[in-house]
Amino acid sequence: MGHTLKWGAPPPKRPYLRILQLLLLAGLFCFSLGIIQVTKTVREIAILSCEYNISTDELTSVRIYWQKDREMVLAVMSGKVQVWPKYENRTFTDITNNLSIVILALRLSDNGTYTCVIQKSERGSFRLEHLTSVMLLVRANFPVPTIAEVGNPSLNIKRINCSTSGGFPEPHLSWLENGTEVNAINTTVFQDPETELYTISSELDFNMTNNHSFVCLVKYGDLTVSQTFKWQIQPKLDDSPTNQSPLLTIIITVSLIGTFVIAAVIWQRLQACRPAPRRRERSNEGNMEMEWLSSNSRGSAKASG
Ligand SMILES: *[C@@H]1O[C@H](CO)[C@@H](O)[C@H](O)[C@H]1NC(C)=O
Ligand SMILES: *[C@@H]1O[C@H](CO)[C@@H](O)[C@H](O)[C@H]1NC(C)=O
Ligand SMILES: *[C@@H]1O[C@H](CO)[C@@H](O)[C@H](O)[C@H]1NC(C)=O
Ligand SMILES: *[C@@H]1O[C@H](CO)[C@@H](O)[C@H](O)[C@H]1NC(C)=O
Ligand SMILES: *[C@@H]1O[C@H](CO)[C@@H](O)[C@H](O)[C@H]1NC(C)=O
Ligand SMILES: *[C@@H]1O[C@H](CO)[C@@H](O)[C@H](O)[C@H]1NC(C)=O
Repeated sequence: MGHTLKWGAPPPKRPYLRILQLLLLAGLFCFSLGIIQVTKTVREIAILSCEYNISTDELTSVRIYWQKDREMVLAVMSGKVQVWPKYENRTFTDITNNLSIVILALRLSDNGTYTCVIQKSERGSFRLEHLTSVMLLVRANFPVPTIAEVGNPSLNIKRINCSTSGGFPEPHLSWLENGTEVNAINTTVFQDPETELYTISSELDFNMTNNHSFVCLVKYGDLTVSQTFKWQIQPKLDDSPTNQSPLLTIIITVSLIGTFVIAAVIWQRLQACRPAPRRRERSNEGNMEMEWLSSNSRGSAKASG
């Protein structure tokens, strides 16, 4: 008897469960129609439209539910707005604009499908009036990766590292040379538990005795970022003197010869003039200087002529 009673009278269903059932149906329904997608970047503002209008008079006789996946976001009942804690202080509804919800300071955890359910009061009970789903894609863009040389693990082998951080969703990294994938070592992916943003880094070893051009490719969602690293073997050492030095050699040779010639001329002049300044030293030092200058200029004139 007790059992029959239990089975016969179903337990009072919570409104959430009923909404959930509606949502499941709605999900199927909307998938067949193609859900509206809204793509935003973290910290931006998203406006999700319920695509339904009501007059302010109707407001007291309708219930508006905005929910995400299986959790409540916002409800308007008897004209009173209630916002759930995760969305508190950054979410409001715009009754005059298609009953939209506006979510400020978007977080990655806001990713999901939002459903707007409108129920209308009719003879004491509420029935489904309207239902819309909007898919919100919140993403964070990775900056272009950076590639750095991180040493030589062995002779003729160089190690490079490619990394980028601050993006979402989860990234995948690959190294390519001439369009074909090459084996990376130590690829690590890290997700910050607080911000949910990812960091990815990977290392690659290559033979330094050959030329290389590597592409570090990072894919996340439907986006990619990449960086190219070029390695060119240095020209052989014995090439450099013949290629670069003729000019330098000429300059050095010319200046050496020039210095030698000038030094020789000065020396010659010095030897020739020595007795003269000594004689005049006592009488006038200023004249001596004049004599030096004139003898020098005569000497250079002679040398050039
Ligand atoms: C409300 O939704 C309709 C139908 O999707 C759209 O054409 C209209 O622009 C929207 N109104 C506003 C104010 O966004
Ligand atoms: C709702 O009202 C707005 C402004 O009056 C209008 O632009 C929009 O098209 C309406 N939306 C629907 C779904 O009727
Ligand atoms: C929202 O703002 C009110 C008033 O500033 C504050 O008391 C409350 O803790 C805030 N709630 C959240 C979830 O941040
Ligand atoms: C990978 O990185 C870790 C930490 O940086 C290091 O200890 C380890 O030796 C690396 N493995 C290889 C194969 O280089
Ligand atoms: C690097 O490449 C050269 C030429 O291809 C080869 O002779 C040499 O063994 C390689 N070195 C290493 C460490 O693999
Ligand atoms: C490597 O690159 C340099 C500079 O572009 C070039 O001169 C050299 O011939 C290349 N060597 C090989 C082995 O391809």
